[in-house]
Amino acid sequence: MSTTLAPAATKLALLGGTPVGKVTLPKFPTFTEKAIGRAADMLRQGKLYGLGRKHVPEIGEAEGVISKYHGNRHVLATSSGHAALQSALAGLEICCGDEVITTPYTWGASISCILHQNAIPVFVDVMRDTGLIDPEQIESAITPRTKAILAVHLFGQPANLKRLRAIADKHKIMLIEDGSQAHGAEFEGIRVGTVGDAAGFSCMGGKVLATTEAGYMVTPHERVYWKGAMIGQHMGRSTDDGMPDDLKPYLDSLVYTYRVTPFNVVLLTEQFAKLDAELSERRRHADLLRSHLASAKYLKMPVFAPGSKPSFHLMSFTFDSDAAGITRDTFAAAIKAEGLFCMGYVPSVISDWKRLHWQDYRGPRVNWLSALEAAKVDYRNQALPNARWRVDHALEMLFDMVAPNEAMVARMAEIILKVEANVDALRDHERTAGPAATVLRK
Ligand SMILES: Cc1ncc(COP(=O)(O)O)c(C=O)c1O
Repeated sequence: MSTTLAPAATKLALLGGTPVGKVTLPKFPTFTEKAIGRAADMLRQGKLYGLGRKHVPEIGEAEGVISKYHGNRHVLATSSGHAALQSALAGLEICCGDEVITTPYTWGASISCILHQNAIPVFVDVMRDTGLIDPEQIESAITPRTKAILAVHLFGQPANLKRLRAIADKHKIMLIEDGSQAHGAEFEGIRVGTVGDAAGFSCMGGKVLATTEAGYMVTPHERVYWKGAMIGQHMGRSTDDGMPDDLKPYLDSLVYTYRVTPFNVVLLTEQFAKLDAELSERRRHADLLRSHLASAKYLKMPVFAPGSKPSFHLMSFTFDSDAAGITRDTFAAAIKAEGLFCMGYVPSVISDWKRLHWQDYRGPRVNWLSALEAAKVDYRNQALPNARWRVDHALEMLFDMVAPNEAMVARMAEIILKVEANVDALRDHERTAGPAATVLRK
């Protein structure tokens, strides 16, 4: 299928021409009347806090639904994605100076869950086309202190689970998945969350599986479930059935209050009922966009392994600024002026963030700096060339195409192809006006 293109001569909106028009997405997230009714019922009944499965049977119900979706793994529903990830690390007993190999190109919570355990993130570079951790660079970062690899399925793109699992097994370390942006995504037919020793997912209101603020941890190991639950659930108040006897002496209220609320847990159950239908719509629209953009020269969609199915939380492109002769930011400014929102999702590589630099940190005190200092880890000026390249060359767009919206997919493509066709004019513009300001997600 091809797109009716705006003629190349059409002046760009950025340069005073007429915009193609605003790209609007279907309303997202949506909640069924049943979901809204059930959430309201929780308030009416005064079921407000999440003490666990025994106290709130709806928690067990949601965990059952999510477990079935992940090959009957154990599931802990939590108050956020960060809580799920930290519960995963706690459940695996990763803390106190243990090293966790991970990506410098992600949302900060993939890293703060490690820091909050006083463990040490070790950054390994990503692949340019997807921004996912490069499995081939992991082994050289493994030391006797390495306890786990934490891989992020960023933007809904599934990381190479087969390769990551093989590396983890070879070195007898654990694999943790951050599926916060990738509910239901599959790598070569394998669903994310079903390979790691534990996985954490975010269900905040902007995610593919959205509640208000919630998350869940998935693990094949029953004890990891219980040890994860112990850090976040007031288990001393209401001990759930099945808690192993040897863990019971350690139950108390020295916890983070990470359990899911009844309000959100019924939303979790109901949102799962429509996840697969929404994912197929996202994938259908992504295929359509790919075919519309077959002739694009500068803005590229990543190519996925056969049998892999991203969840398209965001649509992530890379921009070939060498070939185009302009910066990503000027290209992005032109795209935005035509009516299509876009951004560079990751503002800088995480190893550059000041709150990791104990050597010269001057900001408000944070608890993880002493662990980083004790480990003498120096994050300043780490090379990470591909992650740095992506900070300047990747372009992300919202892609909540969960209901038929072919016209808007065509408009997205029309805008991109119009801007590509006017790259010469943008080059002249950039020469006189300088590059546009970076478009970051605020
Ligand atoms: C990759 C990733 N990991 C973890 C999180 C943390 O999730 P939450 O905001 O629910 O704590 C997010 C949320 O944006 C995320 O995108």
